[in-house]
Amino acid sequence: MGCMDGKTGLVVGIANDRSYAWFIAKSILREGGTCLFTHLPGEKMERRVRKAVEALGVEDPWLMPMDASSDESMDVAFDAIGSQHGTLDYLVHSIAFADRDWLKEGKFVGTPRDVFTQAMDISAWTYMAMANRAAPLMSDGGGMVAMSYYGAEKAVPGYNVMGVAKAALEATTRYLAMELGEKNIRVNSISGGPIRTMSSMAVGGFSQILDWVEQKAPLKRNVTGQDVGDSAAWLLSPLASGVTGQTIYVDCGYSSMGL
Ligand SMILES: NC(=O)c1ccc[n+]([C@@H]2O[C@H](COP(=O)([O-])OP(=O)(O)OC[C@H]3O[C@@H](n4cnc5c(N)ncnc54)[C@H](O)[C@@H]3O)[C@@H](O)[C@H]2O)c1
Repeated sequence: MGCMDGKTGLVVGIANDRSYAWFIAKSILREGGTCLFTHLPGEKMERRVRKAVEALGVEDPWLMPMDASSDESMDVAFDAIGSQHGTLDYLVHSIAFADRDWLKEGKFVGTPRDVFTQAMDISAWTYMAMANRAAPLMSDGGGMVAMSYYGAEKAVPGYNVMGVAKAALEATTRYLAMELGEKNIRVNSISGGPIRTMSSMAVGGFSQILDWVEQKAPLKRNVTGQDVGDSAAWLLSPLASGVTGQTIYVDCGYSSMGL
């Protein structure tokens, strides 16, 4: 018996088998849950995500295209969940985007308006937009989790506009928790430590961040995908029934250090 037995939810953000979303789905599946998946539109994207999902042991996965920059695309995906599954128990939001030209040391102050608004839109606003579509399907309460990073609260060289977007994501978490709590829907974020993924490799100086964390974190190592996946499964499960509006650090303790 697992802590996600009988729970069906949507996992958004698998690009490949290194994505945080992939590890989160792995933990949910191990704990007895059922996962529905989306991929960015396009045949190549579908192939890549399908391969990653099948590597999780999910045969014939429920997989729909969804581009979170389009309201219509989100409507189509959530309508399909409603008509084909009826209800949802959880939502995993594990997506972010910013123009990599502005994710380099010394490249914050000149961030153009369109780069700033796109980062905020895809990385923060979409948590609210997906929550708004998922909540009506959560007829028996539910859980939501999004992925943040320490750069939301401290300036991390190279993280730049993404840090601002993550601060907005963490604030969005609290406001969503406030409004959805009445329906017994819990809304949280995980502030995950750095791991190598397609997105993180776009952040300038990322390898130095990994080295630094390994030296300074209390556990003297970087997190693994499983560290975060297991914490997400816990947060989405009834084991975390009193936890909402929080950003939970899963970072080997790095954020607890002063120096
Ligand atoms: N890797 C890290 O070090 C790290 C640390 C803390 C937090 N995070 C966060 O974890 C989340 C997942 O990132 P990851 O590191 O697993 O990288 P990843 O590249 O594997 O995943 C990012 C996902 O975002 C999706 N995405 C981007 N734009 C989208 C759009 N318009 N519509 C739908 N999906 C879109 C991509 O398709 C991809 O699946 C992000 O929010 C990221 O900021 C990552």
